[in-house]
Amino acid sequence: MSRPSKTQTERPTDALITGGQSACGALEVPGDKSISHRVAIFSSIASGTSSISGFLQAEDCINTLRALEALGVETFIDGDGELQITGTGGRFFEPAFPLDFGNSGTGLRLMAGLLAGQPFQSELGGDESLSSRPMDRIRGPLELMGASFEFPHADNCAPFRVQGGTLNSIDYRVPVASAQVKSCLLIAGLFADGESIIHEPRRTRDHTERLLRVLDVPIKVDGLSITVDGFGEDGPDVEATEWYVPGDFSSAANWIVSAAACEGKKLNIENVGLNPRRTAILDVLERMGAEIEVEVISESDVAEPYGDIKVRGTNLKGTEVGGNEIPNLIDELPLVAVAGVLAEGETVIRDAAELRVKESDRISSMVRNLKKFGADAEELEDGLIVRGPLKLNKKVTVDSVGDHRVAMAMAILGSYGEKPVLIKNIACTETSYPGFWGDLRHQGVSVEFVSK
Ligand code: S3P
Repeated sequence: MSRPSKTQTERPTDALITGGQSACGALEVPGDKSISHRVAIFSSIASGTSSISGFLQAEDCINTLRALEALGVETFIDGDGELQITGTGGRFFEPAFPLDFGNSGTGLRLMAGLLAGQPFQSELGGDESLSSRPMDRIRGPLELMGASFEFPHADNCAPFRVQGGTLNSIDYRVPVASAQVKSCLLIAGLFADGESIIHEPRRTRDHTERLLRVLDVPIKVDGLSITVDGFGEDGPDVEATEWYVPGDFSSAANWIVSAAACEGKKLNIENVGLNPRRTAILDVLERMGAEIEVEVISESDVAEPYGDIKVRGTNLKGTEVGGNEIPNLIDELPLVAVAGVLAEGETVIRDAAELRVKESDRISSMVRNLKKFGADAEELEDGLIVRGPLKLNKKVTVDSVGDHRVAMAMAILGSYGEKPVLIKNIACTETSYPGFWGDLRHQGVSVEFVSK
């Protein structure tokens, strides 16, 4: 089991962007990444063919589909662009080759939960970034449930092999606030004998719980504790269904920040996911002075609330972000930092050490890049401090280091200035937001692709 080398994962394309302030009018963003992974997995467990509209056809979710196909699941896109998944009823085939999750921690960790409940060995891995992210957080509890792991590199990072089988139920306190870990264990819990209870240190996104409820899987939430009934080695007996995946709030957040930090700008984002465990950046931006209106179109009859968000921009002022808010805006923190450098005064992010184990160490990659823009930015062990407002008046080169959220945050910040900004390593945006650069152009920003 060898790890991918730098040359295999290096993405050659850069973007030269020139602003004009952006973001007005109305737009929709592609489907939600977290929900797409889960819907693909649950449709694969079900009996029959599920149809999914709005599935995110981006690299991360496509890697999850490829992994499911290697386990015997059939998938195809129909003439209306809907994804059809024919599930196996919970019993999968042993994969004939290692499963490659590319850049996706969610895909790999959730699928490890599923594979821990299967009576065979699987090998899971991914790109260079994924191969440096911690897997002990799933290994420990899955071993307690009865799965066994082999980590050839002795550092608890991918690639690894998991030998699954009949699982014991578990009563487990997750040490970090992580929806990926919680969901991995809830999925494994479906294949265990008896009731598993997972306790979270802080509430994290609850897509898994919501989607399992739609499938009538008995799942109870009591404060920070989630209980799921196991169905033994065959897994739950669930029927295929129709799913709608709303727009990804984390993708929408790029445009929300872009509009919020710009006096007088108005923007309307339509059909976007409004799960309250995802939208905490809206509260942060309101604290900073932005006017935001949320209209929920549908809450009761679908798994996930979605609707429209209207933003009116202003001159923002600094704020503090920390505590229980963090898991509910974990992927938006690079954008909070961008809003902070555009705002008057100091913005402090704390309690966010998890940022150091994302697709990159987002504390250091953001601070390094913000400084290249000339921002007053400081790293904390568990967050960062920025002081604004920054005047964007010089030509700069920044590097996403292959992290999609950093690349997009840099583009949003760069779109405020009139000087060109070269953003290196931008192909990573394909993992979560295909079409990002086209949408940036539609917001009046000049985007020129540059190949190394
Ligand atoms: C995700 C959970 C979050 C988030 C990631 C997607 C999920 O990770 O950062 O992009 O779909 O469960 P953690 O739960 O590990 O913080």
